Amino acid sequence: MRILALESSCDETAAAVVEDGRKVLSSVIASQVEEHKLYGGVVPEIASRRHCEAVVPVTEQALEQAGMTLSEVDAIAVTYAPGLIGALLVGVNFAKGLCMASGKPLIPVHHLRSHIAANYLTSPELTPSFLCLVVSGGHTHLVEVRDYTDLRVLGQTRDDAAGEAFDKAARAMGLPYPGGIELDRRAEQGNEKAFRLPHPRVDGAPLDFSFSGLKTAVINLLHNAKQRGEEINLTDLMASYRKAVVDCLEENTVKAMEQTGSQKLVIAGGVSANRLLRRRLQSVSDKRHWQFYCPEIRYCGDNAAMVGAQAYYEYQAGHTAGLDLNAKPELSIS
Ligand code: KG4
Ligand code: ZN
Repeated sequence: MRILALESSCDETAAAVVEDGRKVLSSVIASQVEEHKLYGGVVPEIASRRHCEAVVPVTEQALEQAGMTLSEVDAIAVTYAPGLIGALLVGVNFAKGLCMASGKPLIPVHHLRSHIAANYLTSPELTPSFLCLVVSGGHTHLVEVRDYTDLRVLGQTRDDAAGEAFDKAARAMGLPYPGGIELDRRAEQGNEKAFRLPHPRVDGAPLDFSFSGLKTAVINLLHNAKQRGEEINLTDLMASYRKAVVDCLEENTVKAMEQTGSQKLVIAGGVSANRLLRRRLQSVSDKRHWQFYCPEIRYCGDNAAMVGAQAYYEYQAGHTAGLDLNAKPELSIS
């Protein structure tokens, strides 16, 4: 089964053709990041307008690269939640138009389920059940994936998402949006023991996360140093901050693995590209004899191939939508 998939939940307009949930026939991404950089973050109205301009050429390219016409695909999938509402609506409405014109079935896909499904593209042998740490710009979840469409949230962030925590701290340290990527790169050269930072925990909810206190600690540290006229080694601060975030992510992930008794650990989302996170979870998995899976870097951030992967399993489960499908800014993954 060949699915044409569309993604427009944030600042990437993407289209892909995926066969049987596992084989990518094409994947095209138009990123708006350079434009949002000017404002230090994603500007929702600009995002919607750019999706509007990009959605047709990106879809045409995806079909062309797959060597197919619209009439040759078997279904059309689209990210319908969660995300920026004006951005989601562009993809949802365009997908509905394609379905109306072609008579193909419409498959609505949850964005975080897609991030998890990026792993099915990279690791053909991976099948549920498994535990997944989903870390993106907007979400941080520990999810028990019992089956492809049967998921249960075990823990989540109470405030900032991991990607947001990286981006906000990076911004305070003078890096342009989205600073998480550059902070990770520069942190490789720093001393992660140079600064002692808090490791926030959530009382009574051992699998939940809280990153806002950690971010505030770094902002205060920078502010105080500036007032005293002291020089701070930013590379060391980046390394120490990255370590503190990854310590929190690893600690709760290990607890969730122990609690569920799972032998397979998976990571997903933009922050799953983080070098330290990948090394640390690989190392703990080796020690505990767990299988560890992470997406290829090109499938960590937003893309439509992952939407096509999850859509295949949604379709198998009978999850299709009518042409009255609406977008939702928020929706639970389960
Ligand atoms: O999943 P994603 O592409 O978009 C959302 O669905 O939110 O995630 C984007 C986030 C951004 O916050 C970005 O800074 C972060 O992923 N990110 C990273 C790295 N690469 C991307 N954060 C830390 N280290 C990285 N290497
Ligand atoms: Zn995403």
